[in-house]
Amino acid sequence: MFKISPLVTALALTCSISVASAWETLPTEAPAPADNATTAEKVAVGQMLYHDPRLSSTGTVSCASCHNTMLGGEDNRPNSMGVNGQTGGRSAPTVWNSAFNKVQFWDGRAASLEDQAAGPVTNPIEMGMKSWDDVVARLKVIEGYQQAFEKAFGKDAISKDNTTKAIAAYERTLITPNSPYDKYVGGDKSALTAQQIRGMEKVAELGCTACHSGPAFNGAGMFQKFPVIGNSYFEAQYHFKKDKGLAEVSKHPADTNMWKVPTLRNIALTAPYFHNGSIKTLEQAVTLMAQLQLGKDLSKDEVADIVAFLNGLTGEFPKQKMPALPATPGTTFN
Ligand code: HEC
Ligand code: HEC
Repeated sequence: MFKISPLVTALALTCSISVASAWETLPTEAPAPADNATTAEKVAVGQMLYHDPRLSSTGTVSCASCHNTMLGGEDNRPNSMGVNGQTGGRSAPTVWNSAFNKVQFWDGRAASLEDQAAGPVTNPIEMGMKSWDDVVARLKVIEGYQQAFEKAFGKDAISKDNTTKAIAAYERTLITPNSPYDKYVGGDKSALTAQQIRGMEKVAELGCTACHSGPAFNGAGMFQKFPVIGNSYFEAQYHFKKDKGLAEVSKHPADTNMWKVPTLRNIALTAPYFHNGSIKTLEQAVTLMAQLQLGKDLSKDEVADIVAFLNGLTGEFPKQKMPALPATPGTTFN
């Protein structure tokens, strides 16, 4: 996962700039790993766990607190608030279409949705559980979960492994196809406005899609430096370089300020922007990307065209029917 050298990525970048963008539509199904086929029963228990605040020490924070599935799949905050009002340094990415990320987290430190789901529950500033043994013990006494896990995995199946598998299976259903962009690429030429088409052409011409490539505009797990071009004025305001990104986990100096290329799907819904959530509007995010990644100053009209195009990446959200969670009468938290 950390083997990509800046040289290789720089090379890939130059190469892909020279080829025309292949516009791809979002698949309507996400691939699942061999040992965690997506089944309706797993998705059902996964959806409950995802929305259950009892997976947090205080009984107040669920995955959905920071990744709201009734909205854009995150919390629209610069940094998320976990148990006891604690905040971290990074902004919550959307869970919508996270199934199409090759690796998870801004720095790509989790290899799969299953790996990722194990993290927040015992993270002291997110869900704050002391250990996964405590989580499993808490779930095991809930009769409704015993039954739901049995249906999904077989007898006596409540474990850390199956909990993260179920959550990941549910996340693989969080896909938003049929955006105006997808319809346009699929042949409906009236699905995008003239301004959106100008923005789409601009995005390819400038080279945004050299990094934000593929059906999810996420570079299929590619890491890139941000900012590519140093700018002390912006740095003083937004502190983009403070967080070392990939280097925080790999400890390789060459990975400093390298980030997984994030998706642009539903980007209109997921302000504020960038790993530290320091940028409030999509207009400003686009302006800064052009300046700091490509060394280009865009006109107001060009920014407006690109933003119009990005608005066309908002897809159709599958209806979420909130699950009734199995009750725990007589339980007190804290
Ligand atoms: C307190 C807020 C909070 C809670 C609770 C939380 N997350 Fe997150 N989540 C974040 C933040 C912040 C990040 C980015 C952290 C990073 O990249 O270092 C993240 C990253 C992710 C990602 C990676 C997405 C991507 O594009 O890389 C996924 C998937 C995800 N969370 C799912 C979950 C699931 C499943 C749960 C529940 C088990 C959960 N989160 C609980 C805040 C939260
Ligand atoms: C050299 C690679 C590269 C190029 C070129 C590039 N981007 Fe990015 N883009 C990234 C990376 C990496 C990030 C994540 C930066 C961060 O927050 O650390 C990002 C972040 C973004 C975000 C914010 C995403 C979020 O969830 O907060 C938007 C919007 C965006 N880019 C749009 C564009 C547009 C439009 C262009 C062309 C003008 C462009 N990008 C060009 C690599 C690139």
